[in-house]
This record gives sequence, C-alpha cells and structure tokens, in this order.
Amino acid sequence: MSLSPIEMLKRQAAERAADLVRSGMRLGLGTGSTAAHFVDCIGERASQGLEVICVPTSERTRLQAEKLGLRLSTLDETPQLDLTVDGADEFDPQLRLIKGGGGAHLREKIVAAASRHMVVITDASKEVQVLGKFKLPLEVDHFGLAATLRHVEEATRALGCPGPIVLRRDAEGKNVLTDSGRLIVDCDLHAIPDPEGLATALSAIPGMIEHGLFIGLASAILVADLTGVRVVGQLPQDL
Ligand code: A5P
Repeated sequence: MSLSPIEMLKRQAAERAADLVRSGMRLGLGTGSTAAHFVDCIGERASQGLEVICVPTSERTRLQAEKLGLRLSTLDETPQLDLTVDGADEFDPQLRLIKGGGGAHLREKIVAAASRHMVVITDASKEVQVLGKFKLPLEVDHFGLAATLRHVEEATRALGCPGPIVLRRDAEGKNVLTDSGRLIVDCDLHAIPDPEGLATALSAIPGMIEHGLFIGLASAILVADLTGVRVVGQLPQDL
C-alpha cells in the first residue's frame, strides 16, 4: 500500500521509535494516526520475533494491537512500563505538548505517567513556539457541566488566554464521548503564555477530569520532515 507524503513522514518517525524497542520491554501504545504507524511497526517486528507486552491508551489502539496479535496487558496487571510511544497535536521547544485531538488524552496521560519514558512521534507540522494554536481538549464530567466550564473560562482568562470553549460533537451533532463515557470540550486559546500555570489551574477544577496539556512527560520528540527524523530532547539511554 502506498502512503501519502505526510503518512510517510509519520511512518519514518514511528520506525525510528520502534528501533528503541527491545524484547522484554513493557510498552505503552499511543493513540492517533501517527501512533497507529508505531503499532503497525511493532506488529511487524513481533511477527519476526520481538517479544513485548503492550498497554494500549484507547479502545481503538487495543483493537489494532489485538488484530496484529500483540500481547496485551493493562496497567492493573502491569502498572510500570518501560516506554510509551505516542503522537501529539502540538509541541513546543520545551517538550510541552497538547494532546487529545482524538479524545484519548486521559488514558494517554495515565499510561505515559506509568512509563519510565515517553517518546513522542510526529511530523514537523505540529511544532510551535507557543502552545495554543491547536484547541486544547478537556475531558469533563457530564454533571455540572455549565459550572465546570465557568471555572475553565475563569482559569483561562486569569492565565492570559481567554477564548471560546466548545463541546465536541460528531458530524451528526451528537456529543463525542471518551472511552470512559465522558464529554470533551475544546478551548480555542490561540496562545498559552503560561502552560504550567494553566495546567495547575485546570487540574484544580472539580468536574475537569483531565486536560490535554502534557508537561514534563516527554523525554524526547522524534520529528520527521523531508530531511529525515530529528530528535528534540534526549532519547532514553537506559531502556
Ligand atoms: C489522541 O487523543 C491524541 O492525543 C493523539 O495522540 C494526537 O491527536 C495525535 O494524533 P495524530 O497522530 O493523528 O495527529
């Protein structure tokens, strides 16, 4: 099957991340189109003898990994992982990320936090100097939604990035639900001057289950562009 130029870039980043994987490792599998390439790479290598235990970050990824015959586990059975490889919607030079474009950021964050290392794979289009061009996804509970969103609005205003906050709906106008059955809202903030401050403020809001800011989680980002795959940060040396 021939890949489009952008899919080729994603594939290159995924192959490079797969080179980090050794038999015996406990792996977190990310979600999204880039992470799906990584899962395919691991599937191919597993069919050639690579032995790994995988914890998926979404039902989508679980199904893909299952079809490839990968050995699956959960964080309940395997609470500590060696490496998680996942995509991102946006990243900055400090390795801060926005994730959740696919609505999986709660599980993605739990799995990344359970891993000794998180390596992000992406193409260069996701690189920004200041986070916020991509709408920040939040997973929120149904209960008290309007009150929760009022707090979110106050927090974004106080942190210098007010903007429209919209409930995510599918093409038929139905609310998009996460794998845990909760709602997603997208915050159009344009530029987030203080990602750490915003992350702290959002985490303190009752009803806010998880925000899509990933700070201090990624060890390295593998960025594919037409010249090859570049490393931002430090690839793990102790895998
Ligand atoms: C899923 O919720 C997201 O965090 C994805 O990892 C992110 O949206 C990247 O997806 P793509 O690789 O499809 O751009």
